[in-house]
Amino acid sequence: MLRGLFRTKSLDDILAPLGDKARSLKRSLGALEVTLIGIGAIIGAGIFATIGTAAAGDAFRPGAGPSLMISFAITAVVCAFTALCYAEMAAMVPISGSAYTYTYATMGELVAWIIGWDLILEYAIGNVAVAISWANYFRSFIQDAFGIDIPQWLSTDFRTARKIPGLIEGAPHIFGIPLVFNLLAFGIVALITIVLVWGIKESSEFNAVMVGIKILVLLFFIVMAIYFVSPSNMARNWRPFQPTGWGGTLAGAAVVFFAYIGFDAVSTVAEETKNPSRDLPIGIITSLIVCTIFYVVVAAVFTGLMPYHELTRRLATEQAEPLTMALNHVAPGARWASGIVALGSVIAHTAVLLVFQLGQPRIFFSVARDGLLPPVFAKVHPRF
Ligand code: ALA
Repeated sequence: MLRGLFRTKSLDDILAPLGDKARSLKRSLGALEVTLIGIGAIIGAGIFATIGTAAAGDAFRPGAGPSLMISFAITAVVCAFTALCYAEMAAMVPISGSAYTYTYATMGELVAWIIGWDLILEYAIGNVAVAISWANYFRSFIQDAFGIDIPQWLSTDFRTARKIPGLIEGAPHIFGIPLVFNLLAFGIVALITIVLVWGIKESSEFNAVMVGIKILVLLFFIVMAIYFVSPSNMARNWRPFQPTGWGGTLAGAAVVFFAYIGFDAVSTVAEETKNPSRDLPIGIITSLIVCTIFYVVVAAVFTGLMPYHELTRRLATEQAEPLTMALNHVAPGARWASGIVALGSVIAHTAVLLVFQLGQPRIFFSVARDGLLPPVFAKVHPRF
């Protein structure tokens, strides 16, 4: 029995379904689309929301302050090693199962099954966090841009609602039970599911548009920041560079790890890539490099917008939207500028959700094709 649990699958067996139309996926992606899928998955809640906690710290960890630029660089180096492994494995085993399939080939069925569930958890939990952050940004964007106030009981989960004074009491009640439900987060996940069911080509085109917008918005943030605060004033705000020493820089590196998650999701489209051994390594590595450059520059201008003590004071009450908060701080009259960043953030979050939700069924598909989940998950619809 033990031998069965650790039985590995040969490369020939793993690649066998690729010729069979009913058991494999349509190939329609090139290197550019794969790179854009990588950027789509990477840039999201991490740079638009988590950056605040990393810079200012919280009750449990010190803040990195301006040394957040170094934190991003440290995490990028760690991710680069992982990305190189993914690039190598994805080129050798171009199957949609990603790390699950690589493990099956090397460590056997039991470990592969565990890794398969790890991936499913990564995409599910990642999506929960990003969908909640999406709901926060969307709510404030709709409020700022159109003056529409979506009630908090429709945009908060029950556990968070319990910590907000008056929210539960103010929510409608049915048979004495308060109605509190993050409809916004639920709604965006449902909408994206519809796009994904349509097909990989349409999903990838939708992703490309969103990636274009989020890159433009990050560029816009950088240009606006430099316009409102001159480089010499920024340099003043960068002192002290490490307000809480290396402890803060390294804690920041751990927090921003979340901002890098996603380049691995590229490997789940291996079966839909025209030339996987070339396009997957290009996609994984290029997306990581592009995002690292953006992250370090955004961290630099973000921490240059105001002194560290001001940053920690403001973020203590406004952790959800650090980039718009920072722009509002230096240019209170230019609400339109922070509105554009908020819109960009909503779109960036949407792209992350799209790619994570794209990866999830492909893991189910691969695991089911190996007989470790019910066969219904390995069925391919002739059209969608
Ligand atoms: N890297 C993804 C993000 O920052 C998870 O939203």
